Amino acid sequence: MTIERTFVMIKPDGVKRAITGEIITRFEKVGLKLVGMKMMHIDADFSKKHYSDLVDKPFYPGLEDMIVSGPVVAMVWEGAKAAMLVRKMIGGTEPHSALPGTIRGDFTHITYDRADATGGQMPNLIHASDAPETAEKEIHLWFSEADIFDGYESVLSKLM
Ligand code: PPS
Repeated sequence: MTIERTFVMIKPDGVKRAITGEIITRFEKVGLKLVGMKMMHIDADFSKKHYSDLVDKPFYPGLEDMIVSGPVVAMVWEGAKAAMLVRKMIGGTEPHSALPGTIRGDFTHITYDRADATGGQMPNLIHASDAPETAEKEIHLWFSEADIFDGYESVLSKLM
């Protein structure tokens, strides 16, 4: 079975809500292996690198304002088809449409309409890579090899 890594970031609104531990617990409970974690306060330049595909979108200025508004918790999780699994667990991009049981569906409910009315401010708590290829790029941007700690055994090895 192919084990892959994915990038996850708890955004400033998630950190301020004090649900960092709750979010980490969900990924641990499902058996994903934490191999990297750091707290950072990124600036506008870094935001433009991370969201390079979105800088021309009308909502980008609001997205940037939000992401630089406080510290984020960046993580790398490892597991079988980890990118797809984490995306399923965080729920749809628009919190109002995210299913109950997902992170966005359980902790927030803002709509696209509301986000657009507030200049692109959509506090949806968390970002996660949308595919293994994106994960590779994002992990490379946020972490160096020395920041990755995969040399320990996790319960994941027993679940596969
Ligand atoms: S996703 O989750 O990446 O597939 O979603 P996508 O629709 O491509 O959106 C990418 C990021 O842009 C944010 N977004 C918005 N912010 C504010 N207002 C509006 N209307 C809006 N639409 C999309 C969305 O939260 C995604 O952020 P990240 O951090 O990648 O989850």
